[in-house]
Amino acid sequence: MRGKDFLSVADLSSAEVLQMVCKAKAMKAGSTARPLEGKQFALLFEKPSLRTRVSFEVGIRQLGGQCIYLSKDDVGLGTREPEEDVARVLDRWVDGIIARVYSHRSLEILSEHTSIPVVNALSDLEHPCQAMADMLTIQEHKGSFDGLRVAFVGDGNNVASSLSIACASVGADFVLASPREYRMPAQVLEEAKRRAAVSESAIEWVETPAEAVKDADVVYTDTWVSMGHENEKAERLGVFRDYKVDESLVKGAKSDFVFMHDMPAYRGQEVSEGMIDHPRSVVFDQAENRLHAQKAILAELFS
Ligand code: NVA
Repeated sequence: MRGKDFLSVADLSSAEVLQMVCKAKAMKAGSTARPLEGKQFALLFEKPSLRTRVSFEVGIRQLGGQCIYLSKDDVGLGTREPEEDVARVLDRWVDGIIARVYSHRSLEILSEHTSIPVVNALSDLEHPCQAMADMLTIQEHKGSFDGLRVAFVGDGNNVASSLSIACASVGADFVLASPREYRMPAQVLEEAKRRAAVSESAIEWVETPAEAVKDADVVYTDTWVSMGHENEKAERLGVFRDYKVDESLVKGAKSDFVFMHDMPAYRGQEVSEGMIDHPRSVVFDQAENRLHAQKAILAELFS
């Protein structure tokens, strides 16, 4: 790990991304290690959560730790009190902070003003815990990463960003199909391309879903309206209307492709009614793997 925190997939070197997948696999195989024995965690969530909250709470307990859930209304990060004060106070009581925030900058402030690990449980910029669970899921279904084509259809958002860096780290090609204005942020692209150059994989952007999905091993989509963008909902539903992943689009993928979605899934918008239960869908494996991947990350941070 680059530092004390896990705020981005880029906090892991490319080799460490692969090692983390192995560690997650060992967790899933039933590791009984309890590296968090006696440790206390604050789960600081500005946005709603099902998978992240439950998988972190269960995982922390399984590793021997305990946690306190703090919602937006409990804390008022940056409104009731400055992020810096929240960080400095929590630093006196707990051993780690798991935070889901609107602005990635909030995570950096929490990190700068604490001596304990801060884990990104989703920000506007990245969702690195999701990406690590996704890499475990891809490896389970595809065996290896080398030369795989991962097609992400829709918004170049936090989930796409973390996944692109993870894919580039392990030598899988990543292609995003999105409207031009919804490509991934420049700094993410730069990091992904830097890693892809070393792993000899590709990071691509195309405008049409069919082009991205052609011969893909993995077809991935996520909501068109991420948390924090609710006021753009009407506009986004229009802009993305041709980016739905449905049974006809995935006919262009390899016959043994897998369909992935980090959920919540909005059936009828980014994904057709039938795709979640499509024979090639692995979305519930992804959800389960959040637990194993996050346990691996926590075990590593506290090793
Ligand atoms: N991109 C979505 C992911 C939800 C888990 C969001 O940020 O709302």
